[in-house]
Amino acid sequence: MKYIISGTDRVGSSTLKLSKYIQSIYKNQGEDVEIIDLAEVKPYLHTGPHYGKEDSGLQPYLEKILHSEGLIVVCPEYNGSMPGILKYFIDHLKFPESFEYRPVCFVGLSAGMFGGLRPVEHLQQIFGYRNAFIFPERVFIMASHKVIDSEGQVVDETIRGLLAQQATQFRKFTSALTMANLDANSVISAKKK
Ligand SMILES: Cc1cc2nc3c(=O)[nH]c(=O)nc-3n(C[C@H](O)[C@H](O)[C@H](O)COP(=O)(O)O)c2cc1C
Repeated sequence: MKYIISGTDRVGSSTLKLSKYIQSIYKNQGEDVEIIDLAEVKPYLHTGPHYGKEDSGLQPYLEKILHSEGLIVVCPEYNGSMPGILKYFIDHLKFPESFEYRPVCFVGLSAGMFGGLRPVEHLQQIFGYRNAFIFPERVFIMASHKVIDSEGQVVDETIRGLLAQQATQFRKFTSALTMANLDANSVISAKKK
């Protein structure tokens, strides 16, 4: 299973709407992917900090990441970077297994003109440091309030095309890594033998 991480806990966020739209793209391509909504995770993070001593509420989310075939991180720009809760969530994930050899792709969004380039590049540093397989094709959505409507539809045809293409190519990328036994799940099970 691949997971979309909806990178904010803001109520009514465009990020969650966009995550649901991306989920529908994968569905149309024949693949079910699940969303990890940080607004849902937040209560368990706030009873912490845990850092390795997880309570039962947080554990299922940590397990999802640990067994994921791939991650699609959808990240809004907050003050020139990622929302604090996304970094806080990342800091709770099991080290090093959560990201090592794990395929990941990124979608950025912002109200301004850089489309989430800054938080995505910050995320690439983090995931690069943590030895993830970073898919190179990123999608950036500027003036997100004009591109994502209140129903969560993406009204810009170019962006719709870019998101669909990213999903197609990311699916091929993850399949190729799995066939080569290079994906995180294969590497972790080979190490256990
Ligand atoms: C706390 C906060 C900080 C933000 N900082 C920026 C920013 O630095 N640059 C920018 O272009 N947009 C900024 N925005 C707007 C969001 O990036 C934009 O609305 C985004 O596309 C979707 O955010 P949402 O998922 O919270 O709706 C900020 C929004 C919030 C709530």
